[in-house]
Amino acid sequence: MNDPTRRRFLFSTGVTSVVLSACGFLGATARYLSPNVLYEPPHRFPIGSPEEFPPGTATFLPEHRLFLFNNPAGFYAISSVCTHLGCNVRHIVGEGFACPCHGSRFDENGQVVHGPAPEPLAWFGLSLSPRRELVVNTRQPVQPEYRFRV
Ligand code: FES
Repeated sequence: MNDPTRRRFLFSTGVTSVVLSACGFLGATARYLSPNVLYEPPHRFPIGSPEEFPPGTATFLPEHRLFLFNNPAGFYAISSVCTHLGCNVRHIVGEGFACPCHGSRFDENGQVVHGPAPEPLAWFGLSLSPRRELVVNTRQPVQPEYRFRV
């Protein structure tokens, strides 16, 4: 009793099973070989030459979420990330920083004037690269007295 329809069905079912198994194996192998890495932004990055930030200026760098100040004592960098829920704060000359999300206020040194922000704004260390670019290090917290002189 050779039923060609039954034979063809069993053959195509077998071939399909082998192909699906091979695809699953190849997919699992490819996933195993690809690195399981979480890419984070670098913690040290250049922001430009000191001449790009004239004396007396406060420059917002949105791509790095920080403010760079250049005053007569030197350069300093303050995070623009509100310590409440992470919105970007705005700088108000002579007053400090204001968060547009929930109304936190910070003084000119980033200290909390009123919440809900629980912590002051972070200050980051600066250095000069061999190419004479200012480099911010977000893993180097510094105190509000910090100034970097070129
Ligand atoms: S995120 Fe700034 S006050 Fe809430």
